[in-house]
Amino acid sequence: PTVVVLNGPNLNLLGEREPDVYGHDTLADVEALCREVAAQAGLSVDFRQSNHEGVLIDAIHETRTSAAGFVVNAGALTHTSVALRDALATVTGPVIEVHLSNVHAREEFRHHSYLSAIASGVIVGCGPSGYAYAVTRIAELVQQRD
Ligand code: DQA
Repeated sequence: PTVVVLNGPNLNLLGEREPDVYGHDTLADVEALCREVAAQAGLSVDFRQSNHEGVLIDAIHETRTSAAGFVVNAGALTHTSVALRDALATVTGPVIEVHLSNVHAREEFRHHSYLSAIASGVIVGCGPSGYAYAVTRIAELVQQRD
């Protein structure tokens, strides 16, 4: 089984971008962490990042029925994209929404997520560990399913 990890705009700059908010780990570090946790649970990882909404939507369409589950950090698209939400509403497996920072402790415009209502779980403010927790949760749900 494969867990698809989707990263939205600006997450390619992780490590360089606002390190006081997002920390010093790079997206490659986050990917390595996801792969390690997934491997322990017998899952493979399809890890992607795009700055383009349509590319993320195409990635969801490509994997929507084959993926065991999705870990999604949509970046700012979280707060703006009905289209991304609609795409995620079509997938067969569970979706866990992740944010590195505690969006609720930040600007008002980050408090609302278009994705949370279609997610089975939401993890915020735990840094890169949030991705690891999300992958672990997908593994647990896959085990319950099988
Ligand atoms: C983020 C939070 C979003 O509000 C922001 O636009 C991001 C990153 C996070 O991981 O904390 O790009 O999703």
